[in-house]
Amino acid sequence: MLAGVIVLFLMFYKSFPSPKCPPPVAHSWRQAKQAHFHSTAEVTKRPNGTTATQKKDRPILLLWLWPENKRFHLQDCETLFRINGCNLTDDRSLYSRSQGVLFFHRAIQDDLSNLPYSPRPRFQRWIWLNTDSPTNTRRIAGIKGLFNLTLSYRKDSDIQARWPLTLKRNTDEDFVLPEKERLLCWIVDSTGLHTKSRESYSYYRELVKHIKVEVFYSAEFSKAEDYFQTVSSCKFYLSFENSIHRDYITETFNAPLAAGTVPVVLGPPRGNYEDFAPGTSFIHVNDFPDAFKLAEFLLKLDKDNKAYMRYFHWRRFYTARRHLTEENNEFAHAICQACHHVSINKAYRVVPDLNKWFFV
Ligand SMILES: *[C@@H]1O[C@H](CO)[C@@H](O)[C@H](O)[C@H]1NC(C)=O
Ligand SMILES: *[C@@H]1O[C@H](CO)[C@@H](O)[C@H](O)[C@H]1NC(C)=O
Repeated sequence: MLAGVIVLFLMFYKSFPSPKCPPPVAHSWRQAKQAHFHSTAEVTKRPNGTTATQKKDRPILLLWLWPENKRFHLQDCETLFRINGCNLTDDRSLYSRSQGVLFFHRAIQDDLSNLPYSPRPRFQRWIWLNTDSPTNTRRIAGIKGLFNLTLSYRKDSDIQARWPLTLKRNTDEDFVLPEKERLLCWIVDSTGLHTKSRESYSYYRELVKHIKVEVFYSAEFSKAEDYFQTVSSCKFYLSFENSIHRDYITETFNAPLAAGTVPVVLGPPRGNYEDFAPGTSFIHVNDFPDAFKLAEFLLKLDKDNKAYMRYFHWRRFYTARRHLTEENNEFAHAICQACHHVSINKAYRVVPDLNKWFFV
């Protein structure tokens, strides 16, 4: 009997998980989504100021062409996002030593004549940078088998160019609703309303029959402060995308989240928005049969503060940061993500057919 008890005890003891094994991960909604919410890089500095990579052996990332000549300071990846794992340069004489070369899609000529002539070193990876949606992207037949990495807004890109929500570290801070002077607003770019996509313009035309929409032109705001101040003064904001594609959810959605306003979205289906932000943080036009019903709902929420405030509960867990609105910084975030990627990832990869993947 005693021997039996000892054997059983030993078996039980042995079957205990070793303390080295990590505990099993519980799967909650938040954990599953978290991966997307803050999947972009922000490297934290070590206390003494040194970073993981020594400066001299950092991989070189060569920016072959500045996107639309919007130049930011090459040190900005470090100052704006604390990313410093690569040696970012626009000096083409470093081509043969560059681990990564970044190409801005819109700048590539149809005959590829402005791409590098010299043969590609074996270790070098070419990165395709495009922040536009397929509707606004020109097809270039020759780029089919040229690239190793994709950098776009799409979730299945190798590197994502997306302004992310981040998990809040300090959950004690209470959200204070900014003062509201307006009901519903829309900021359109200087080319005006008529250049908006057919979907968003015709929805807007219907909506204004039933509710007042205050329209502003982005050119009116010279400073980011004024822009976010205006968005925050509205109870609701029209986050209408210019073209409708899966994952194509841009800063027009981030602006109201960052400013403390409820976005009313028109774009991909609700489920796709919920891949990037909590479902209770926005109102989707598809939640209503037509613009009249949406207007009715917004007017009702305007009178019901308790129901309105429910759209801000998510802020106990997440923070939305203001995106950069300065012209010259338009591509800084995307390019710095590429910098981070080449500094931590050296895997061999080929994008088999870029056009087939992007223009689905
Ligand atoms: C970047 O790399 C080049 C070539 O190796 C080097 O001359 C330059 O000093 C580097 N810059 C930084 C900031 O590390
Ligand atoms: C990059 O892509 C090219 C063209 O598809 C391929 O020939 C090359 O081997 C790839 N290199 C790396 C390092 O992934």
